[in-house]
Amino acid sequence: MTIHVRIRAERAPGEKRVAATPDSVKKLRAAGASVQVESGAGLGSLLTDAAYEAAGAGIVADHAAVEPGTVLLHVRPLSADETSALPAGTVTVGTLDPFQHPGSVTAARDARVTTFALDMLPRISRAQSMDVLSSQALLAGYRLVTLAADAFGRMFGMTMTAAGTLAPARVLVLGAGVAGLQAIATAKRLGAVVSANDVRAASADEVRSVGGTFIDLDLGTAEAGGGYAKELAEDRARRQQELLAPHIAASDIVLTTAAVPGRAAPRLVTADMVAAMRPGSVLVDLAAESGGNIEGSVPGEWRTVPVPGGALTLIGARDIQSDLAPDASKLYAMNCANFTALIMKDGDLMLDFDDELVSGSVVTHDGAVRNERVAASIEGVRA
Ligand code: NAI
Repeated sequence: MTIHVRIRAERAPGEKRVAATPDSVKKLRAAGASVQVESGAGLGSLLTDAAYEAAGAGIVADHAAVEPGTVLLHVRPLSADETSALPAGTVTVGTLDPFQHPGSVTAARDARVTTFALDMLPRISRAQSMDVLSSQALLAGYRLVTLAADAFGRMFGMTMTAAGTLAPARVLVLGAGVAGLQAIATAKRLGAVVSANDVRAASADEVRSVGGTFIDLDLGTAEAGGGYAKELAEDRARRQQELLAPHIAASDIVLTTAAVPGRAAPRLVTADMVAAMRPGSVLVDLAAESGGNIEGSVPGEWRTVPVPGGALTLIGARDIQSDLAPDASKLYAMNCANFTALIMKDGDLMLDFDDELVSGSVVTHDGAVRNERVAASIEGVRA
């Protein structure tokens, strides 16, 4: 039996990404699937229905009912209503963010839909080609810098001219994971002087390897399993703010990307620290949607903040991967196609729960919540 893969047209306003490209359609077909794309799904990424058809996909009406036995590829988490409308046995593959969307998880459980969250994949090396967190964070890190460059109104690199010398921009990156490291490398390529701080033990070497100067606050490290950071206790978090304050005041541009899985983003920059920066400075907060690393950042807003002698710009990032939709879709689509190939054999669905990538990313299956942490958090919501 040939597996049917359906590509969803994203519904969220402003979401321009899509879970397949003509190249990934070819890959899915080579693995034995037939592919149907919802009409217009690729337009935000400059991909027409005709381009998908040329790659061998069929085009179906946007929002058309999903056939039983379909694997549905998506970017954003499906709503509870959309999930409830799927036939039992549908398999969904995409970003789920299950702790933030408990209603969609219970809807999938009750509708006997199998959901795979690519954002829950264990980050082992075999997962790299399917790792949507990494592929999308990479683009977010780049976009942080180009957003800051738009708002800055000055050059990043030192420039000497007959009329005078322009000093290089001083960029500070807080949180040096996938997005932060890409931001450091990008700002460096534009000629800025870049420094960074993070709480993971490996981060000092990682920052240096992309050309940044690591700021060691002598706070010790804070690590959970799997290469992730742990939340700092309140006194250490306050100490981190105090120690960062002079570095922030000395920077022209502050880019924040700090995150702790399952927690609100750590507050690294207070309103007082923002107010102590020079006029003309720019701050961009990638964590604005998840609690905010910077006090006062609002997702999707460019705020002008008065400071002594002038004003600065505080940008709260929102959906910034969509600003780079063609590239974001290209990588996301390949992540989805690689995972889909993992759950197929000879053109048919084959769910091998002994494979840690399959068992690590499944959230619901056979009418049950299979991920223990998600199940516990749903019980917590109900209690
Ligand atoms: P993330 O998005 O969860 O967090 C971003 C960064 O914020 C992290 O580097 C974290 O240490 C930092 N952070 C948290 N609290 C902070 C604080 N109070 N102050 C300063 N920084 C703070 O992390 P991301 O980017 O998803 O990467 C997590 C880890 O996973 C990294 O070690 C990365 O190298 C690793 N990784 C491994 C992969 C693999 O295939 N082996 C693939 C991708 C990432």
